[in-house]
Amino acid sequence: MIDAVGVKKRYGSRPILRGVDIVVENGETLVIIGGSGCGKSTFLKCVIGLVHPDEGSIMVDGMDITKLAHETDIAQYRRRFGYLFQEAALFDSLTVWENVTFGLRYLTDIPTHKFRQVARDKLALVGLKDVEDFKPSELSGGMKKRVALARAIAAEPSYILYDEPTTGLDPIMSDVINDLILELQKQLKITSIVVTHDMKSAYKVGSRIAMLHEGRVLGVAHPEVIRISTNPYIRQFVDGLSHGPIKMRLKEFEADPVGAKVNGKA
Ligand SMILES: Nc1ncnc2c1ncn2[C@@H]1O[C@H](COP(=O)(O)OP(=O)(O)O)[C@@H](O)[C@H]1O
Ligand SMILES: [Mg+2]
Repeated sequence: MIDAVGVKKRYGSRPILRGVDIVVENGETLVIIGGSGCGKSTFLKCVIGLVHPDEGSIMVDGMDITKLAHETDIAQYRRRFGYLFQEAALFDSLTVWENVTFGLRYLTDIPTHKFRQVARDKLALVGLKDVEDFKPSELSGGMKKRVALARAIAAEPSYILYDEPTTGLDPIMSDVINDLILELQKQLKITSIVVTHDMKSAYKVGSRIAMLHEGRVLGVAHPEVIRISTNPYIRQFVDGLSHGPIKMRLKEFEADPVGAKVNGKA
């Protein structure tokens, strides 16, 4: 279980996370939605210890990971996580099976002569066969995502963090990836966080959906409750409307518009 309380992070003078509270129950898929630049990826990076929050705690399996100071402890901790990066982030010069098993020598005790078979097994789980010897450049966007997903599950993590798993894919391939997320959750009983702004995907894979806005969680609810939410911020986002309380920023560094005060909190 992941229990984040009051997580704050600023870059220079810009507050990104202003006190994020999120609980992810064992076995669930928590979806985090929110506009570009609202801090979704930053939050995921806090969870795996790539970014250190300025304040707050993140308890994972009962341990506060923000208290881990040594790189070796953080590396040890990170073994519990599979991470699907926003860009598939495969190594172009390595074959598919080398990509899938890239982290295993650091993360597991699996002997290297077994790596190829491990890669085959994980690739089968994401619906790929006989692609071990291909190079990433020979694969379509959807296949690259699947290879990246096979890599994320290669070390058999307890948690998977998906950063915009369907961004850049056509609607059909997006749905294939959604089905895979559901399948992995069912088969491997994995606990996941999925960050997305694809509402179709959010409704489909989420046990619950949390909306992040101006550095805080506006609300967390079952997808069917989000679908009929009357909160004007949530409505505007899930309906994809340009008019509403969420003001578009023309520039990344523009000062916060009205959004800085949400639910009366500055
Ligand atoms: N290392 C960094 N240094 C400075 N600013 C950053 C850094 N990482 C992210 N940001 C900024 O923080 C904001 C939130 O980024 P991010 O978490 O990637 O947003 P999201 O994933 O929701 O689109 C963005 O405005 C981004 O430019
Ligand atoms: Mg992001």
